[in-house]
Parts: sequence; C-alpha cells; structure tokens
Amino acid sequence: MLAWYDAHRRELPWRARPGEAADPYRVWLSEVMLQQTTVATVTPRFQAWTARWPDFRSLAQASDDDVMTAWAGLGYYARARNLAACAKAVVAEHGGHFPTTEAALRKLPGIGDYTAAAIAAIAFGEPATVVDANVERVVARLFRAATKPAVRAAAEAITPRDRAGDFAQAMMDLGSAICIPRKPRCLLCPLRDVCAAFAAGDQVAFPVKTAK
Ligand code: ADE
Repeated sequence: MLAWYDAHRRELPWRARPGEAADPYRVWLSEVMLQQTTVATVTPRFQAWTARWPDFRSLAQASDDDVMTAWAGLGYYARARNLAACAKAVVAEHGGHFPTTEAALRKLPGIGDYTAAAIAAIAFGEPATVVDANVERVVARLFRAATKPAVRAAAEAITPRDRAGDFAQAMMDLGSAICIPRKPRCLLCPLRDVCAAFAAGDQVAFPVKTAK
C-alpha cells in the first residue's frame, strides 16, 4: 500500500509533500470538514478558510459569527462551533500547538476517536489506526470481515508502525478511487492478490450492512 501510495497519491491541499511534515492545524481542519462532506466540496472551502485563518491563534481570535458564516453550506454546524472552541483550547491550554497523542487529542472539543486517530497518524506519525467509511470497505473486503469489531481488529493488525498516516491515506484513496461501493475496479487494485472477497467473488457483499 505504501508503494502504491508513493506512486498514486492524490495531491490534496492538506497533505504534505513527500518527505515534508504535515501541518497539524491543516490536518485537523481537513478531517473535520471531510466528515460528511466530499473532497470536491471541501477543497475550495479549505483553501479559503486557511487563507483567512492559517493557524490556531488566528482562528482562536475570530468571532463566532465569522466562523459560522465561513462554515455556511458545509452542514452540521456543531462542527464549526467545535472548531472555534478547539482552537481556543489549543491556544489557552497547549500554547498554540496540538498535543501529539490520541488520548490527549481526544480531550479537546469536537475531537472524537476518528479525528484523534487521524491527527495522531497523519500529523504526528503515531501508529494509530484510522477507519472511515472508505477504509472500512477496503478492510471488510480484504478479510471478508463481517462486523465492525472484526474490521477494526483487522485494520489495527495491518497498520504499520512506520508511516501509519500515509497508510491511512492510501487506504482512503484506494477506497474512494478503486475499492468503490458498487463496481470495484479490482483489476487496478494493488491488493487484488491478497483480497479474500476478490478470491471469493463477493466483493459487493462487503461491508455487511447491519441493522441500526
Ligand atoms: N477523507 C477523510 N480524510 C481524508 C484524507 N486525509 N484524505 C482523503 N480523503 C479523506
């Protein structure tokens, strides 16, 4: 997956160039914007937001009204309120820089398990496992894993200690471009030879839908 990512990674405005360090502020903002909103919609909004508020300190000083207006159209307005609260907490409690562990990140406003893992892995190189809907589909098919706990356990087992952030984003890219819901493009997939669902021919049965 890492070799595939090195060859095929999408260039996105919150991703560091190869060999450069990711900016934790940009990683956090992008991950919050990308919850429930597509990359295509988020990209221009992310550019405008970071031009106006490039870091935690500037965002912490923005008025709530300005933040809510800048968020308009992205939906789930609690996310915008939490962004402002989180920026203020990072400045007041952490000197303007994120703490680097999942557990410490988790204590900040609006940062749940998913976002904490994504920031820890992508921004800080911690070996955290990041499971969004795309990753869930890839892993469910790879192992024919039928339940969320089974998918999570399998995802944890294959997360590398090194480059966990690149690995997570490789899985996201694979899920959004190749291991897609209805007609997966298995002939292009770097994991085809090790994919249990491909071998069984039942890719589209995964992830198994469960009653809510
Ligand atoms: N969706 C959520 N996080 C993402 C990321 N870092 N790259 C691409 N798509 C994503």
